Amino acid sequence: AARLKTRILEINRQSARFFYSCLISPQGKPALDYLHERGLNDKTIRRFGLGFAPQSWDALTRHLKAQGFSEQEMLAASVVARGRKGGVYDQFRGRVMFPIIDIRGNVIAFGGRVMEGSGPKYLNSPDTPVFKKSRNLFALNIAKSTKEERLLLAEGYMDVIALHQAGFENAVATLGTALTDEQARLMSQYAKQIIIAYDSDGPGQTATKRAINIFNEIGLQVKVLSMQGAKDPDEFIKKFGRDRFRLLIEGSANALEFELQKIRSQFDLSTSDGKVAYLKEFASYIAGIKNPIERDVYIARTAGELEVGREAIASQVDYIIRRRT
Ligand code: UTP
Ligand code: MN
Ligand code: MN
Ligand code: MN
Ligand code: MN
Repeated sequence: AARLKTRILEINRQSARFFYSCLISPQGKPALDYLHERGLNDKTIRRFGLGFAPQSWDALTRHLKAQGFSEQEMLAASVVARGRKGGVYDQFRGRVMFPIIDIRGNVIAFGGRVMEGSGPKYLNSPDTPVFKKSRNLFALNIAKSTKEERLLLAEGYMDVIALHQAGFENAVATLGTALTDEQARLMSQYAKQIIIAYDSDGPGQTATKRAINIFNEIGLQVKVLSMQGAKDPDEFIKKFGRDRFRLLIEGSANALEFELQKIRSQFDLSTSDGKVAYLKEFASYIAGIKNPIERDVYIARTAGELEVGREAIASQVDYIIRRRT
């Protein structure tokens, strides 16, 4: 089994090299143009070892065979799939390739993006003897050696790569799945604080809530970026630049503020009815906070913002707490 793992890692490394050489050869021109159009420079492309899988059923298979790898080994690495007639065919075809590298520097899997046309936008390697999706993070191999005490968590490959190119080398991403417990624990080995920079759309916000809970459970501090005018960090940096993104990080809300903003956005605070309804929700939420000083901070702030007496809100919160215990 140990020998098979070694062979798989060799196959993965050779595949990544093959994809890179295809990217910089004439056949890779559309893919290279695509990456340039998305704002990546050649240094970034090299650094992340990006590549191109040709539109072919057997280009990689032939290449690996010539290097002495068997079909069995290629299947185990999941760089090929078993065809109906018993042979094998290349798993990734006509896609821009993103190698996934573990903290030891091994290529353990791939993500592949279509440039146009049909099929899923990203195709990812399934779990293999050397890859457990739920236990790895994209770009942690680079992010782990930054001196930052915090990690930035994004959704996608392109988010992370754009962030690194813009100087935020502490960015990592989950691999096309929801954050797992194991991934959160892995992050806790390198950082005290996590800044969640998921997409600003519905699914991204839902994933943010789940991630906050996971990080809270293992005791990591959490902050949440709130991006306006862009759907994800990649787009944000392209539209507004790295300095604006840095400001976003500095102004990022903690998990509680994030939750309060969510609740608040459901009410019309320009009317008295809206204020009253919001304060009810607010009091009920704040009553769940264990630390009385923390409760007081948010009560005082909200009282000021809504121009309502602090005592009135505080007594409402106390009432709820007494009733619950
Ligand atoms: P998004 O749909 O937000 O894509 O998925 P993206 O990262 O912004 O990609 P671009 O900018 O269009 O290139 C976020 C992440 O979810 C995973 C990928 O890891 C992707 O980066 N995903 C998405 C998949 O695994 N498969 C898919 O079909 C789509
Ligand atoms: Mn170009
Ligand atoms: Mn998304
Ligand atoms: Mn994107
Ligand atoms: Mn996105």
